[in-house]
Amino acid sequence: MNLYKYVSEKINEKLGMTVNLESPRNREFGDFATNAAMVMAKNAGKNPRELAGDIANQLRELDFVADASVAGPGFINIKLRNNFIWKNATAPKQIAAQKPMVIDLDYGAYNVAKSLHIGHLRTSIVGDTFNRTAKFIGHKTFSWNHIGDWGKPMGLIIAWIERLHPELPYFSDNFDPNMPVDYEIDTVELNTYYPSASKLAKEDADFQARAQEIKAKFQDGHAGYFALYEKFLAISLAAMNNTVKRLNILPFDYDLGERNAAQYLDDVEKILRAKNMIYESDGALVINVRRDDDTAPMPPYMWRDSRGADTYDSTDLAAVFCRKKKDNPDKIIYFTDLRQSLHFEQLFRAADMSGIYPYEKMEHIGYGTINGSDGKPFKTRDGNAAGLDDILDLATVAVRERVAESGKSLDDETINSIALAAVKFNDLLHDVRSDYIFDPKSITSFEGRTGPYILYTAVRLNSILKKADAQTTEPATYELTADERNLLIQIMDFERTVISAFDNRATDLIANYAYDLCQLINTFYHNCPIMRDDVDETVKAGRLHIVRVARDTLATAIDLMGLKVPSEM
Ligand code: ARG
Repeated sequence: MNLYKYVSEKINEKLGMTVNLESPRNREFGDFATNAAMVMAKNAGKNPRELAGDIANQLRELDFVADASVAGPGFINIKLRNNFIWKNATAPKQIAAQKPMVIDLDYGAYNVAKSLHIGHLRTSIVGDTFNRTAKFIGHKTFSWNHIGDWGKPMGLIIAWIERLHPELPYFSDNFDPNMPVDYEIDTVELNTYYPSASKLAKEDADFQARAQEIKAKFQDGHAGYFALYEKFLAISLAAMNNTVKRLNILPFDYDLGERNAAQYLDDVEKILRAKNMIYESDGALVINVRRDDDTAPMPPYMWRDSRGADTYDSTDLAAVFCRKKKDNPDKIIYFTDLRQSLHFEQLFRAADMSGIYPYEKMEHIGYGTINGSDGKPFKTRDGNAAGLDDILDLATVAVRERVAESGKSLDDETINSIALAAVKFNDLLHDVRSDYIFDPKSITSFEGRTGPYILYTAVRLNSILKKADAQTTEPATYELTADERNLLIQIMDFERTVISAFDNRATDLIANYAYDLCQLINTFYHNCPIMRDDVDETVKAGRLHIVRVARDTLATAIDLMGLKVPSEM
């Protein structure tokens, strides 16, 4: 149940007005509090404490209210009835959205022939949790892995392979696609091609020009370049799939990126031309996306570069056109690095001005940077920018050390799940928009606001339930302790948390909720014995019921975060 919503609706109904309701963290004085009397008294020129007394009397008539009392200058504290809590604290269920939407989510967006970098970590983790959250509350989503499989890097890589193996037939304009070619790309080496080529292109103008020429011809359908491209594309797609698995994120609904979008460029260009939106500037074709009230610089949107090639900009606009056609979404949401904010502002304007898709239905969630302890973008020990795998590997090493220190022995699969949880939970915990410092040691601690702590709590609940399998006594209501009440009330707050995580595009609310839930679970576990012989049968059955509901709630939160719970820890 959505406790907050339920209680506030009932109170508003009873009092015939909308009151401001708070649920304090410390529930010693009440489970909810309102300053309604103080607000009303001010408006009506009455004594707030007197008015609060009248309101408290009315609230006491509500069937879920155990007590309503006046405090201080006119606050009202409301305490819920135990049996109301007991009855309504149930395992979370999929929610039916009041206004279900179709939402296209653009995240992941990996690049062909470029190993995944640290930035891809956040888009994957946050995008995936947002996707799961949207589905959970009843929206229809389509996840788009908008692969970088068309632009400048393709030209650079083909040019690089041409340098390494000029004898290969791919570079001829008369390439025959039916002729078998005896050439396999080395998977590990492939990752070095792009950095090497882009370095060379900066130093060597001829090579740069060659790569650009190749890119333009490639986009025009050069058969040889295309055959070579298909080879490294296959390797990259396999690598992306491995990453999706390693990160335990949902498979994408569409692995369609720039190349797919490029098919729609002609359609889009017709629209733009009909609206007179394209003009020439320094040999390139651009779109003016400035507005009269702009105060910040707003450069034109690049439709075609000076060599006539498609661009990141043009394929992104074509992708919007494609999505509108395929999914007809109510919203398109992009998850990328904050540094792409200007690009998306331009894209949204171009889509809106051309009538392809309205500005207000598009959103860019820009995330901050993952830094090292020096506050600069995280680097590996050898001083290179960290890749996505480096981050996971570092976390795995840290988990392994901790486990060894504690004298436990855990299998590799368990270690990997813990490391993944450490990285993902820590990422989700932070406001997406902010930078954070990546410290493998602290995120892998089994205590505190960490992924391992969350998993550890889940493992503990599972093991209690496993031992209690034979328990048959039907749970019935009983006198709840403060720890039990606090836990159950937190459970009743799950639905509201998930909805507000979605509404505010704030997946950190889910991570923080999970942590608070675990804290309450562990306090309950510590203070409320379950399987001990001196525990009364009714209490035992009741507490097992609480464990079950807590476990299901935590498991649902864990699932939204895409973590895997090991069988032991
Ligand atoms: N491939 C790009 C990168 O790695 C991100 C693409 C984001 N999505 C988009 N529709 N532009 O930085």
